[in-house]
This record gives sequence, C-alpha cells and structure tokens, in this order.
Amino acid sequence: MSDFNHGLTHAEGALYQSGFRNEFATEVIAGVLPIGRNSPQRVAKGLYAEQLSGTAFTAPRAHNRRSWLYRIRPAAVHLPFKPIENKRLVGDFATVPRTPPNQLRWNPLPFGDGPIDFVDSLVTMAGNGSADSMSGCAIHMYAANRSMQGRYFYSADGELLIVPQEGRLSLATELGLVDVEPFEIAVIPRGVRFTVSLPDGAARGYVCENFGALLELPDLGPIGSNGLANPRDFLTPVAAFDDRQGKFELVAKFGGNLWSAEIDHSPLDVVAWHGNYAPYKYDLRHFNTIGSISFDHPDPSIFLVLQSPSETDGVHSLDFVIFPPRWLVGEDTFRPPWFHRNVASEFMGLIHGAYDAKEEGFMPGGASLHNCMSGHGPDAETFRKASSSDTSKPYKVDNTMAFMFETPRVIRPTEFALTTSQLQAEYFECWQGLQSNFSMEGKA
Ligand SMILES: [Fe+2]
Repeated sequence: MSDFNHGLTHAEGALYQSGFRNEFATEVIAGVLPIGRNSPQRVAKGLYAEQLSGTAFTAPRAHNRRSWLYRIRPAAVHLPFKPIENKRLVGDFATVPRTPPNQLRWNPLPFGDGPIDFVDSLVTMAGNGSADSMSGCAIHMYAANRSMQGRYFYSADGELLIVPQEGRLSLATELGLVDVEPFEIAVIPRGVRFTVSLPDGAARGYVCENFGALLELPDLGPIGSNGLANPRDFLTPVAAFDDRQGKFELVAKFGGNLWSAEIDHSPLDVVAWHGNYAPYKYDLRHFNTIGSISFDHPDPSIFLVLQSPSETDGVHSLDFVIFPPRWLVGEDTFRPPWFHRNVASEFMGLIHGAYDAKEEGFMPGGASLHNCMSGHGPDAETFRKASSSDTSKPYKVDNTMAFMFETPRVIRPTEFALTTSQLQAEYFECWQGLQSNFSMEGKA
C-alpha cells in the first residue's frame, strides 16, 4: 500500500472523463460550477475562481488550451520560493558536454539504497533546446522507492509525459487523481501541481518534459477517421480536492532549476473545474497498430501516439512513438526494423519484454540513443534470423512494448548519461558480426 495519503475527495461515480482535449466540466459538489460565465462576483461555497492557461490567450481556437479552477485558496497563497541545490536535472542543453555521434545504450537505472521519492529521483539523461526558450525537451528517468511525503511538485518548464516501466504511480493532481501502471502513460500539463504516491512501494520509468507546443494527436491522412491512438481512450480525471492544512512543501521546476516554498495547506484544493487543459492518461494496449499487409513495412511514423507540432508543417518538435505487439505478415520482406540513418534523433526505452530489432542487451528499464545520421538497425543475430525466416506465414511480435521519443534536433546526452556505469561501453559490438555477404558469383 502507498505510504502517503493524498487526501483527495471526489464525487461518487466515474473517476475519469473520456476523450482527448475535450471541454470537460466536473465538480465534486453539485452546483459549484458557475453556469454561463467563468468569473461571477461570488463563486458558490466561498471558492475562488482561477484561470490556468496552457497556450497564449490569442492562440487559434483549435489549439487554445485553458481551464477554469474553482478552489479553496488561490494558487498564489504560499511563502516565497528558495532555490534547491540540484545537480541531477538539466534545463539548458547548450551546457552539456560535446555530443558524440556514437550509438549509445544504457542498462536500467538501479533503485538507490536510501529512501527517495519521485521528484528527488529524477535525473536528466538527454534532451535538446532549453526550458527558457520553451523549445525542445528534456528526457528524465526516475527510480523511486517512497511516496512524496507532504510535497507537491509542478513544472513551469514543460508538460510531463510520464512512461512508467515498473510499479504503479498514483498521481494526485489539482484536477483529480490519475492512477497509472506500466503500459499506460500520463501527461501532466505545464504548471499543474501534483504529488506522486507509489502503491507498489517502488517505481521506475521515463519522463519526457516537453518544453514546446502541447502534445496533440496526429492527423490520420489516408488511414481515415479511426486508428492509432483513438481519442476516446484518453482519460482525464474528475475533480477531487483535499482541504487539509499543515506544513507542506511546494517544489517548482522553473528555468531548469528546482525551487522550494512552504505552503500551509494542500495545493490540491480544486473543488470544481472546467476546460480543456488537464492531465490525462492513455493505455498503450489500446493503440490500434497499423501496418503493411502486403510487403515491406511503412516508416515508423505509423506508430505515432502523440506529437508536439513545430512551426514547420509536417515536422514535430517531439514525437512519442510506440512499438507494441503486432502481426508481421509481409511476404518476401525483411520484417524487423531495417537498417537506417535518419535526420531525426531517437531516444528509445523498453517497458516490457524484448524489442524486435535486438536479440539481447536492450533491457526493460534501459534506454538507447541513436542520433542524427548515426547508423543503426538490427543486430547481427536478428539480421541472420530474419534473413532466413519463412515469410509465407504470419508471425506475431509478442511480449513487447518499446517506445521512442523522437526529435528533429540532435538529442544531447548529459554528463550523467555519458559517465554513468549504466552506459554500455560495448554496445557497438552488436553490429560487428555483420560481415560482407557480397559475391559476384551466382544469381542472387
Ligand atoms: Fe531508429
């Protein structure tokens, strides 16, 4: 059981509302939400009205995101922030060491000996851009073994795409309770305050902090009106609140640094809210995987779950892509991912099982990085097997869930990532067995 009680009370009934970026409306106490207006002279039950905006006020309607919160105290009520010394997080990737073009791979980060919560365990592995420029992303990992104790956290630097790999997370947020387990993801918007409890006692996973435009569902083009991640499978919590007073800590991530403020009440005191800027979760097992039913396989953009749009049409500043279980049926086709070099850069993680391009070495909880134009693809053993397998029969890639954070900019590993003992110095060897099979003799 969790060792911290988040204290949230919510209305009876459903815990989540279904749909992506909907105009949600939810209240713990019936009749609290103002009707036909956002900011009446007096809000019901003595609550304060507060707007939380996630895009510029004048952003086009299709992209405009904000929510109205009706809360016991405004978010402004806390003591001044003081800096927290932190050498684990990086918010400006111009400051990291020179980036090697080598293929890089890491073993899973170990759980520490002493107690450590979600926020304290976050360590930046790689990223690009900077928090200050509101462009790029930071890729963190966490390996925590205790719940946050009377601490609340928010990032002003970006929305947090959380990918649990081991252990469930109970994310008690201002806008409600989001419970996630491995195979699910959660997105906490920029600025939303939350605390993390660990129902299983320990948890490990990945966090992509998106400094840029908010994540959206991709257009489907010729796929049509259904497929990939369907909007109805995204779940946003119903309102829930905590009216406790006490000695609590509010930790802000702001400008790449951590800041701490005393707060004498739980900041999760939102009794009702409405709007389209809210946390959500998604079960990756609901992803409708599309692929070739003839020969060859499409580019991996077919596996796109969420994207952060950039100013260049068709180029995303961040893609979140998954490689779920799926049938491979391509005839006379090399079925694993082909060898490739891309202009885009790829940070991969493995949630479960094995990845179909690597026989060994890429472990659940581990990570790999293949940067712009760095050659990579199946290892020698995978190539050997796939080149001689019977492609007249379907084959199911099962017992797997890998994912990728892909960006158009080079992903720069941090000093921590380049010096940790988890870095696999021998990773390059997986391709060294790929010898020349070339012959001028014979037909093929
Ligand atoms: Fe790749």
